[in-house]
Amino acid sequence: MSGLTTGQLILIIILCVLLLAVVFLTVRAFYEPYVLKITTRKMFPAAKCPDFRKQEHSAGSPEKPGIRLFFFSDLHADICLIKPERLISAIKDANASAPLDAVLFGGDICNNYRVNEKGLTYLRKISEACRELGIPFYGVTGNHDFTFEPSEETCGFECIENKQIRMTSRSTGKTVILFGVDDSGRKHRVWYDVPSVPSDCVSVLAIHNPDSILHFKEGDHVDFMLSGHFHAGQIKMPFRLEFLVLRSDKLPQQKVIEGVFEHNGTTMFITRGVGCNKLPLRLGAYPEVSVVEIYA
Ligand SMILES: [Fe+2]
Repeated sequence: MSGLTTGQLILIIILCVLLLAVVFLTVRAFYEPYVLKITTRKMFPAAKCPDFRKQEHSAGSPEKPGIRLFFFSDLHADICLIKPERLISAIKDANASAPLDAVLFGGDICNNYRVNEKGLTYLRKISEACRELGIPFYGVTGNHDFTFEPSEETCGFECIENKQIRMTSRSTGKTVILFGVDDSGRKHRVWYDVPSVPSDCVSVLAIHNPDSILHFKEGDHVDFMLSGHFHAGQIKMPFRLEFLVLRSDKLPQQKVIEGVFEHNGTTMFITRGVGCNKLPLRLGAYPEVSVVEIYA
């Protein structure tokens, strides 16, 4: 090209590549919130190890999971681009392949409690589908729901905060205790105590914020734990900057962000969640609902 030095030409090429990358990532960030990923997450009993370790499938595991749940969290229905019909169809498909023992919601109904009705309508549709399929629908609330007192009439699910549900598998006859803990909200954060459950039972805890595991006390009995809250960063940046700059959560600093981990006798699943916080964007963090198979 006449009039341009080699250095200028290289600079123009680099700028064009950067511009294309920005355009590509922006388009993808607007597209991702519409794409629901339905995952299967297998959870096995955890070792008594103080480090957080990603849990891999165990070779000697039984063929059938003891309990099979459908878990979704972080609906944020005012900025959720996944329609309830899509979730209902995922629940029906999962139940058709093998019976589900329960559908479980992990909290954060809406971003703003003033528009909670949108989230409650969404959840009541899920509840209606569960009723038709004969599957119980349980849930807990998240940090965005701290002003809200859930009841089955308002939000469609049975709130299991400070309740214990003795649940028997429809396919294996295995019994576990399913229980939940409330979230205080971010502003005046309190880490509520984990209720005690009989030590001879397998316990499954639903609790919105995964950092709760750092506040378990000696003697707390949590075999399995299901959480959300992190949205897998929602917009993933290099070096986990989204967590370092925008959030104060502790586990992401140890690379514990999404997936199945084990720590000190507890196996924990952190879902990426369904909806969005603040902006209708996700990048490297597709919306997720999961069939959770607990091999207890
Ligand atoms: Fe959330």
